[in-house]
Amino acid sequence: MAERLFFSVPLSRISQLELIRLQARLGAEMSGPARVVPAANFHLTLAFLGSVSQQQKAALLARWESLVVPEVSLELDQLAYWHRAGVICATTSRTPMALGQLAHRMRQDAAEHGLHRSQAPFRPHVSLFRSVSQLSRELPAITPVPLHINEVDLMVSVFEPHGVEYHSVRRWGGNRAS
Ligand code: 2AM
Repeated sequence: MAERLFFSVPLSRISQLELIRLQARLGAEMSGPARVVPAANFHLTLAFLGSVSQQQKAALLARWESLVVPEVSLELDQLAYWHRAGVICATTSRTPMALGQLAHRMRQDAAEHGLHRSQAPFRPHVSLFRSVSQLSRELPAITPVPLHINEVDLMVSVFEPHGVEYHSVRRWGGNRAS
């Protein structure tokens, strides 16, 4: 059975709380069918892999077995609305080089092994709302949300009747509290 997999960075409780506050502030202005992303689903995607067979998954895990996660800090310092994706997200004006390089390696590895080929350049972000068809006003400036990154997950996306759930298949790093 194939699974929908992606590499991502988990968020600390503190970052989650700050993003929930941000959602509450924005939600008051949101109209139409926009859906709030539940805090349990917050994550920062490094590479989307698409549908992965069990054989491809075993090979993927073997290739990334000895991944060393770089320790980087990042600030989610602005909001963005991506019209085509229908997403409002918290993103950053400065991508740490080590994080960009890791995302690039993961995306290249995926493409070379017949998995998803990412087209858009890597832009670290955490999605806050989905199915946003339009903005009723300009997005406000925000107080930056700091992220300390020292963990990476291989995640599986599962469709449940109440919505999508993400579960960690394998975690790397994380020997320091974030
Ligand atoms: P998003 O956070 O910007 O929505 C699991 O589905 C994760 O993979 C989501 O975080 C989503 O990014 C990303 N994702 C889903 N489908 C994708 C696609 N076709 N191309 C790139 N990323 C995708």
